[in-house]
Amino acid sequence: MPDAIFHFPPNFRWGVATAAHQIEGNNTNNQWWAWEQQEGRIKQGGKSGLACDVWQHPEVDFDRAAAMGLNAMRLSVEWSRIEVAPGRIDTAALDRYRAMLKALRERGIEPMVTLHHFSDPIWLADEGGWLNVNIIQYFTRYVEQVVRALGEYTNLWCTINEPNVYAYQGYMAGVFPPGKQDSRMAFAVIRAMLQAHAAAYRRIHRLQENAQVGLAHNLRFFDPARPRNLLDRLAAWVRDLGFNQTTLRAVWDGWWLPPMGFGPALPLRHTLDWFGLNYYTRDLVHFDRSARADFFAQTMHDPQAEPLDGNYGELYPQGMFRALKHLARMGIPIYVTENGIPDADDDQRPRALLLHLREVWRALQDNVPVQGYYHWTLTDNFEWAEGWTLPFGLIELDPQTQARIPRPSADLYGAIAQGNAITPEMLDAYAPELRKVLLPG
Ligand code: FCB
Repeated sequence: MPDAIFHFPPNFRWGVATAAHQIEGNNTNNQWWAWEQQEGRIKQGGKSGLACDVWQHPEVDFDRAAAMGLNAMRLSVEWSRIEVAPGRIDTAALDRYRAMLKALRERGIEPMVTLHHFSDPIWLADEGGWLNVNIIQYFTRYVEQVVRALGEYTNLWCTINEPNVYAYQGYMAGVFPPGKQDSRMAFAVIRAMLQAHAAAYRRIHRLQENAQVGLAHNLRFFDPARPRNLLDRLAAWVRDLGFNQTTLRAVWDGWWLPPMGFGPALPLRHTLDWFGLNYYTRDLVHFDRSARADFFAQTMHDPQAEPLDGNYGELYPQGMFRALKHLARMGIPIYVTENGIPDADDDQRPRALLLHLREVWRALQDNVPVQGYYHWTLTDNFEWAEGWTLPFGLIELDPQTQARIPRPSADLYGAIAQGNAITPEMLDAYAPELRKVLLPG
């Protein structure tokens, strides 16, 4: 494609990312299902219900992804379906996932399998979840079953999705189950998840010689609201430490930082074949004397910036480049394992998609080893505490009728994947206002 303005490397993975509980439907045996039944937990009383009905009809969306020309898909397997009671494996569920991965392969789509994406079996939640002293054994035992069953169809494993978000939302903000507000617990949960990641890394490699194992981290930026104000800078630094650096240092250098701990975390070293970046947005941070429980930091969205739907934050594509450069120091391959925006009428998404991908391209020009990009997400889905109010799909979904209507972004993303490039024609067709920005002169 000679007139392309941004070429991507050969074999670049163009995918979408999904998560079992958000799309499968009727995941009645996990802690989220129970949580959704409680009054006031989910925005507008939303329930996952049938979700996108993917458990029963996965090929509907697999066909659409294939027709778009995607060559990759990130999906998670649901622990509560696979291990219905401690140590009791439902082989039919594993067979179902085998069939799904096979169906993806048949469509030329390489699966990346996430082993834990926010949902826990009820039996585990009842035993204290990730604070249970046996959690590492529980997790690795389950992982072993999955790898034995699915290893024929994939070697690309993401152990755990966003320990920081799972812990922050569930144990500090209290908006995910189990609804606690206790920062000590939150850091203990992240710590347990990172230890479980390391143990799973080793177990998977023992079972599968060519396994490629990584972790997905939600890297959010925290910038001082008043850049010259020392207290704002300190508050932003503290936020970044708690949300990002504690995790990053543990898996990069094998070192626990406060408040997660202090000292060597040696078993965590060398437990990443690749790193997964989930990038969405950034916050501005104000020092606030009264916000003790939040480490004196009050976050806000930049009032000057373009807001996203659903009060989701600001459109901040530059953060993609910043994040990739930051992670490049690890010296291992990187996947963008999630990136997207909620946008029902798709009046921002094409532009957001192009701008974020331009930042990925810039990072590639700087030799950051980005191997692929998984857009969040294929169809609108159940967005956890936000229920059905955040339409992140390239394809619009009506959960009542299960009708799917591709948004313009789906065509754009398909064209990018097929061409392995962004062309001036795409700008003209989907975001003409970007010509000036991306094609100066
Ligand atoms: C991420 C989650 C994913 C989805 C997006 C919008 O933090 O990993 O499941 O909810 O946010």
